[in-house]
Amino acid sequence: MKQRIIIPTSVSSLSSLNRWLKGNRYKDARFFILVDENSYANCLSELVSHCSVLQDAEFFEVPVSENAKTLEVAYQLWAALLESGADRNSVIINLGGGCVSDIGGFVAAGFKRGIRYVNIPTTLVGMIDAAIGGKTAINIENTKNQVGFIHHPDAICINLAFLDTLPEFEMVSGLFEMAKTLILCDTEAYKRLLSSLDESRGVPIDTIKQMVRQCVDFKSAVTISDPQDRSVRKILNFGHTFGHAIESFMKESGTPLSHGAAVGIGMKCELYLSAKKLGMSEKITELFSNLLTRFVAVPKFSLKDAEKILSYMQQDKKNRDNLILCVLLQDIGVPVIDVAINENEVRDTLLLVGKG
Ligand SMILES: NC(=O)c1ccc[n+]([C@@H]2O[C@H](COP(=O)([O-])OP(=O)(O)OC[C@H]3O[C@@H](n4cnc5c(N)ncnc54)[C@H](O)[C@@H]3O)[C@@H](O)[C@H]2O)c1
Ligand SMILES: [Zn+2]
Repeated sequence: MKQRIIIPTSVSSLSSLNRWLKGNRYKDARFFILVDENSYANCLSELVSHCSVLQDAEFFEVPVSENAKTLEVAYQLWAALLESGADRNSVIINLGGGCVSDIGGFVAAGFKRGIRYVNIPTTLVGMIDAAIGGKTAINIENTKNQVGFIHHPDAICINLAFLDTLPEFEMVSGLFEMAKTLILCDTEAYKRLLSSLDESRGVPIDTIKQMVRQCVDFKSAVTISDPQDRSVRKILNFGHTFGHAIESFMKESGTPLSHGAAVGIGMKCELYLSAKKLGMSEKITELFSNLLTRFVAVPKFSLKDAEKILSYMQQDKKNRDNLILCVLLQDIGVPVIDVAINENEVRDTLLLVGKG
């Protein structure tokens, strides 16, 4: 696998991307930049001003958020690439959040049976999660990520300054993905994040920026050891078995949550089960729960809600032999994959999660 990580810490970081793109590997290549409305407004000129190699690149704007991840948009991009004379040596530069890197990676995977691409994530979720690992996807109807390819980017460039224009709602979404990553890999860093959140009034942007690199390194290492998503990479689903089902339920109820907020509630559920089934300390759940309630209004689910969320969990593509499988923790930094949970455990957990 050829994935490279370039993590600049200052503006000069984009200059190192410029050097990378000027390298022999891209000799005579044409670059096509993908943006959405917000990355166009906040990030494109910064990128181009530091990357002379991109000054003549054409750019295409895709619709904001999940509206970008459709077959129609992919078709339009393929048609636009053909019309612009793109060939097998062309390179797509995805400048945006996870939706831009998901559709851009998908389009790159299909065009001429696969061209190269580079991810320049501009959201926290993009930086620590979506841009890394080579999973690309589009949504079918309202169901997320149903069709896609594993097609790794040539490079990922992280310019932390892009986070400065990100709305707080989006930072909070990334914050819970960050908490998820750190609870899987590093007790000290996880505790540092919790105490920094405890001390600050809002989202502590500086602490978060300091921890991006560790999260990127962790996801990269896990991905490299399991590039086809068959074994150890499953640990990254911590919080997501409950989280995805809660996200779908809330959307259907007309009170949607951000993905990260739903993952936060999912983490609380799975921490509670970790204590119950694997003997993890209950103190860990309690501390996490305090953090969660500062940023997310955790709903109180009724038995009827729990049944609906359970039905979403039963459709999860990661289940096997009709068992609901979860990643749980024995302790911070000690995940266990494929723990089977039964329907009553799901119901009990959901009835408890909104209570304190
Ligand atoms: N492929 C993977 O492995 C993977 C992993 C995690 C998430 N994802 C996918 O990523 C998507 C979520 O990613 P996301 O949270 O980045 O969402 P997003 O791409 O929709 O970005 C969130 C919002 O922030 C705006 N934005 C982006 N950069 C900005 C900036 N610098 N300043 C101001 N606004 C900016 C966007 O326009 C959008 O409105 C989901 O579709 C999810 O399925 C994929
Ligand atoms: Zn996630």
